[in-house]
Amino acid sequence: MSIVAYSGKILYRGNLVDAELGVDEEGIIVGIRKHFEGARRVSFSGKLIIPGAIDIHVHFRDPGYTNKEDFKTGSMAALAGGVTTVFDMPNTDPKIKDLKSFKKKLRIANKKSTVDFGIYGGIWPNSNIKELLSVTKALKIYLYEWSDPNALENIARMIPNDVLISIHAEHPNMIKKGEYWSLDDYNKLRPPEAEIEGIKASLKIFNGKKLHIAHVSTESGLNYLISKAVTFEVTPHHMLLNKDMNLWPYGVVNPPLRSKSDNDALWRAFFRGSIPVYASDHAPHEIDEKESENPPPGVPGVQEALPLMLVFVKEGIIRIEDLMTMYAYIPAVITGLKGLKGSLESGAYADFLVVDLGNEVRIKEDMLFYKCEWTIYKGLRAIFPLYVFVRGEALVEDGEVNEDPGFGKYVYSKDFKPFII
Ligand code: DOR
Ligand code: ZN
Repeated sequence: MSIVAYSGKILYRGNLVDAELGVDEEGIIVGIRKHFEGARRVSFSGKLIIPGAIDIHVHFRDPGYTNKEDFKTGSMAALAGGVTTVFDMPNTDPKIKDLKSFKKKLRIANKKSTVDFGIYGGIWPNSNIKELLSVTKALKIYLYEWSDPNALENIARMIPNDVLISIHAEHPNMIKKGEYWSLDDYNKLRPPEAEIEGIKASLKIFNGKKLHIAHVSTESGLNYLISKAVTFEVTPHHMLLNKDMNLWPYGVVNPPLRSKSDNDALWRAFFRGSIPVYASDHAPHEIDEKESENPPPGVPGVQEALPLMLVFVKEGIIRIEDLMTMYAYIPAVITGLKGLKGSLESGAYADFLVVDLGNEVRIKEDMLFYKCEWTIYKGLRAIFPLYVFVRGEALVEDGEVNEDPGFGKYVYSKDFKPFII
């Protein structure tokens, strides 16, 4: 068997070790050792070798809203940002609520995705949950779309305990309709209390299930969740941006951008390693849509999410092991991919990034693969990976992104052997 040995500072079991990562012809890691005898060597000496990120919250808009993004552009952006696996949200057109709509998205993603992907099924009143459970292990609920969240109690009983249930936990009773002309207005229509009430309702309804609270935006939501036996995520925009910054109308997002003190609370928990999951909630809209009378909620971010945080690693504020626990390891655990993805160990797929912390740039629109051609992070410092390997294939080489639509595979397909549904 021929093995390629990549040398560098490898993130292995929570430590950076000067070693070699051995990868076989099938793109599987055979081990992390000081030296692989007889292997072909590739030296990334002095550079970091870390797991590919797993982003469990992206909206690639395909099918239905391909004016905003599609699986080709979205997956290339992910790749360029060091994200080797994405989980795509179900609020496309059609919505992913049964086998037929699921299969339509699967066909598209199989054809267009460069990175590996999961597909969320959505729980709406007319969803066929049995059909969805026959093809995916990840479900999404938009709590604020349920006029009576208690109606979810019957549905909760149908969902096995090993299926991930990601909830957008803003409570419908606390969201007001109305005009908004500033980020402050928008924050008042969807106030912080809607989040904490949504979280409490979700924990009650889905007690004992594999519950995951998406995009926590408030200090009170964070404090409530930190001692609970559920996972939750934070996004770069809720940590780095707030309603008092000059970001209207682009900064309209659900849940809304909050205050500087919410940023600080999330940020402190993040750099201490007390946040389970980091995710981009990549939700692009066109410039014209954002500049319209009713700017739709959402900001893109899958390409910048990791590069933004690598700057804080360079500055010694975040530990690389904590960052990749939040953006690779725990996402793999909760999606059922542990051992295959999310960490560098024997038997896992060789999804890895080569990072030179000296390779810092300022974010500009023309670096991004997004169809929408804007970024809320313009001008901020970022470190993009130099190489990105997916299942042993170098899809980014020396910063050059190789387009390979169709390379990406569905993570709950028979290609990922232990997880045949
Ligand atoms: O800001 C958001 N945008 N929040 C959501 O929950 C949906 C998303 C979208 O699809 O645009
Ligand atoms: Zn979302």
